[in-house]
Amino acid sequence: MHIVCVGAVYIDTILNVPKYPIEDQKLRATGHARRRGGNCANTLEVLSQLINPQDNDATRKGNLHLLAVLPNEKSAATNFIRDSICKVTIESCIFRPEHNEAASSYILQNTQNHSRTIISHNPLPEMTVSEFTEKAAQVAQREDGGETWYHFEGRVPETTLQCVEYLRSAPEQRGVKISVECEKPEREGMSEVAKLADVVFYSRLWADANGYDDPRKFLESRIPDALPGAILCCTWGEGGAVAVQKKHDGKHQWAKVTAWKPDTGSFEVVDTIGAGDTFISGMLFALNHHRTDWTLERTLSFANELAGRKVLQDGFAGLG
Ligand code: FRU
Repeated sequence: MHIVCVGAVYIDTILNVPKYPIEDQKLRATGHARRRGGNCANTLEVLSQLINPQDNDATRKGNLHLLAVLPNEKSAATNFIRDSICKVTIESCIFRPEHNEAASSYILQNTQNHSRTIISHNPLPEMTVSEFTEKAAQVAQREDGGETWYHFEGRVPETTLQCVEYLRSAPEQRGVKISVECEKPEREGMSEVAKLADVVFYSRLWADANGYDDPRKFLESRIPDALPGAILCCTWGEGGAVAVQKKHDGKHQWAKVTAWKPDTGSFEVVDTIGAGDTFISGMLFALNHHRTDWTLERTLSFANELAGRKVLQDGFAGLG
């Protein structure tokens, strides 16, 4: 199975702050880091470790593909991004030759309550539908009959909807699996995309904005709109996560997990940036590699543990 993740790549500048600043105040950071981010790139970085845990050969690419808009192929920013996900194919990316800067995020990581406040800027023109269909047709041709899974971060809902409609109707894309993320409530149109997906990842923020304070009740409200057989998940931070698979006979299968904690009992949250992206890696890995031998409960608890382990460490290395 080839997994193509469609989304953006950011260069994150992370400042650890002892408390959230007051406007117009000066505040000293206790730490500073610069690393590659972006939901899809984060997901792929973790997936590459899960799929090839023993493989240290950086030149051997797995079946993982990034489909994102990047700056000029020769720019320092693109080199930095390429090096950060060396086991992921970036051949399907759309390069903007006239741009040398990547999208960037400035993140305040509050050591007191572990909130991460993200302010981002993306100077790169977003992917168009025709750019996507051209790349997806190339993937289909290259992989010739191989199974492909498309995961969409869903940056521009109207574009994402047309991309998904293309995948659902084009003869060369027969049999592709589609997952989508409904993370930011302001991207309302993503609910139309969710109706066509095999797997939907809802955030707590999304459920909140739709008036739900309980993940199961929220997912129950989404079942009527989902495809038969679709899996819907909702992560709830320290409240764990819930997933449901819609069954044809109405006897939907539910799974619920509490937030993962290490056996030692004591633990310290270190870095919550990309925990949701890591959860998605866990789900995509299990749904691809253990489709037949893992229950929904086991799949969910694997993804939940992976995301839990991620917040105890800086960045994404060593999660495989
Ligand atoms: C984390 C993240 C960061 C990035 C931001 C983009 O989920 O992908 O790495 O800067 O979100 O929204």
